[in-house]
Amino acid sequence: MIAREIIDDIVARNDIESVISSYVTLKRAGSNMNGLCPFHSERTPSFTVFPNTQSFYCFGCNAGGSVITFIEKAENLDYVGAVEFLAARAGVSIPQDGRRAQPGEIPRRRIFDMNLAAAKFFRECLFDPALGGEGMRYLMENRRLSPATIKHFGLGFAPNSFSALHDHMRRLGYTDEELIKGFLCGKSQKTGRAYDYFRNRVMFPIIDTSGNIVAFGGRVMDDSKPKYLNSSDTPGFKKSRHLFALNFARNHATESMILCEGYMDVIALHAAGFENAVATLGTAITSEQARIFAKYTKKVIISYDSDEAGQRAANKAMQLLGEVGLEVRVLRVPDAKDPDEYIRKYGADKFRRVVEGSRSGFQYKLDNILAKYDLTQPEDKIRASNECCALISGYHSGVEREVYISQVAKQLSLPVDVLKNQVDMSLRRRIREKKAQEQRGAQASIRNVGDRINPDAIKDVQAAAAEETILGLMLIYPEYRSAAADGSEGLTSQDFFTAFGRRAFEAIVAAHESPEGFSAPALEQSFTPDEVGRLQRMEQGRRALSENGPSVFREAIATLKRAMSQRADRENEDVVSGIASILARKGKK
Ligand code: UTP
Ligand code: MN
Repeated sequence: MIAREIIDDIVARNDIESVISSYVTLKRAGSNMNGLCPFHSERTPSFTVFPNTQSFYCFGCNAGGSVITFIEKAENLDYVGAVEFLAARAGVSIPQDGRRAQPGEIPRRRIFDMNLAAAKFFRECLFDPALGGEGMRYLMENRRLSPATIKHFGLGFAPNSFSALHDHMRRLGYTDEELIKGFLCGKSQKTGRAYDYFRNRVMFPIIDTSGNIVAFGGRVMDDSKPKYLNSSDTPGFKKSRHLFALNFARNHATESMILCEGYMDVIALHAAGFENAVATLGTAITSEQARIFAKYTKKVIISYDSDEAGQRAANKAMQLLGEVGLEVRVLRVPDAKDPDEYIRKYGADKFRRVVEGSRSGFQYKLDNILAKYDLTQPEDKIRASNECCALISGYHSGVEREVYISQVAKQLSLPVDVLKNQVDMSLRRRIREKKAQEQRGAQASIRNVGDRINPDAIKDVQAAAAEETILGLMLIYPEYRSAAADGSEGLTSQDFFTAFGRRAFEAIVAAHESPEGFSAPALEQSFTPDEVGRLQRMEQGRRALSENGPSVFREAIATLKRAMSQRADRENEDVVSGIASILARKGKK
């Protein structure tokens, strides 16, 4: 737990509007600010920042809370990590005794320090001919890297030993537990001892935008498997939200960025002067990573391997990057399996021409469709035209559809009107399907089906709504918190029938009675970001209504108590009818 005065101080120093502005383009709407939600993909803004209460809420995906919860979600940190992040942003430090790590959890800072020490060790090994000669030869001769590039990326070498790194790190004071949790060591099944995880591999440190080494990738120097070993996710690192070389590329990203598949592609591109290249860490691109791109650049050039897997991955990347509003282009790298090999074969100037000739996402998909058909055959031409129209109907802007229709009309030599009709039909079908889907979603949410945050709610929808009313009022108005705490309305936590409602009630009352008093950002410490979003939904639900007087509060309490006694009656009936049926059976005998 973090001391309350620290939380208050950090929140006061980080105005929510200015923090969120560096993630979301906000437009003023009355006393609030609106923008596109960074936590789900949308085209009309439902994400709202409330400067008055220093909170945010997305009416689309129900994410919400204080600036701390925002940073938890946006930076994928836990509560303590988010407070530390905001402290650093405000240029203040948190006293060590102000924070207590979870039992068994290693602080992020400690993991980063440990990784830095390991990276230094790997680098020293690489530059030591006796230890890392083979690694250095591999990088310079096979991969044609210059010493400057090797240094720039902090590459290293893990010796062919089960204990070289382990012994070195132990001497520096790191424990086996820390080395294992940080994925530098594995744990032997037999002896339980720690052994070096990376052995006889060239090492690629993965560095975040603050300059921390968050993980490593290690490559074998021959054809053995697995080709790369990577750190798994640790408390300081999640693959799905990092990009290799973003620490460099972010400074060259204003116009565009290049997305590759592999570490070696990125390194070759940077060495050839394309310092805006990045790669995912051996996994398909995620929507989180798409949003990282959107934060730094306008245009992404996808430069994946030319094999089938690479091309399939390009389709997925196109979709995710398009969803966050980026302009997307796709490279076809001819006569080479990947950009690294292409540059080695043909040089940087030719690669630049490939980049300049990159196709728009639409052209790329269109070419893929057309390549499947023999357009001199009428049946093929019909199928191609159907597929093209379905593709075009997926674009949301009418101008885009118009432009693409005339392009396809030309390429298939079909009249524009005919294609236009077909696109319209396809569009209407899409809209129908979307509406049906939304309706299903809305009905499910009315019935509280699949509510992961408050799974009990479905058992009594009316009582669950009453709980939300009470908690919403308590979150907004101090007088209802007092009434709940002093028991003057006869309300206790036992009146709440959902476990989540009871827990929320108890936490709010406890905060109210604490010496420092109630504060929403401090309350969030006891809830997950999803749960905070739910509390925020209760609050917004009340704010949307004009009548929030004591009668509303009392009525909701009455509803809860009524529901409670009805449930008790039902249970009694069940018991009675159970006994009755037993007696009836006995009577028959
Ligand atoms: P590639 O096999 O295309 O890698 O895998 P590459 O970078 O071109 O490798 P070189 O040129 O043969 O050295 C692309 C990426 O997938 C991940 C790595 O991040 C790699 O850079 N990968 C690949 C793994 O994580 N493990 C593997 O065994 C293979
Ligand atoms: Mn390669």
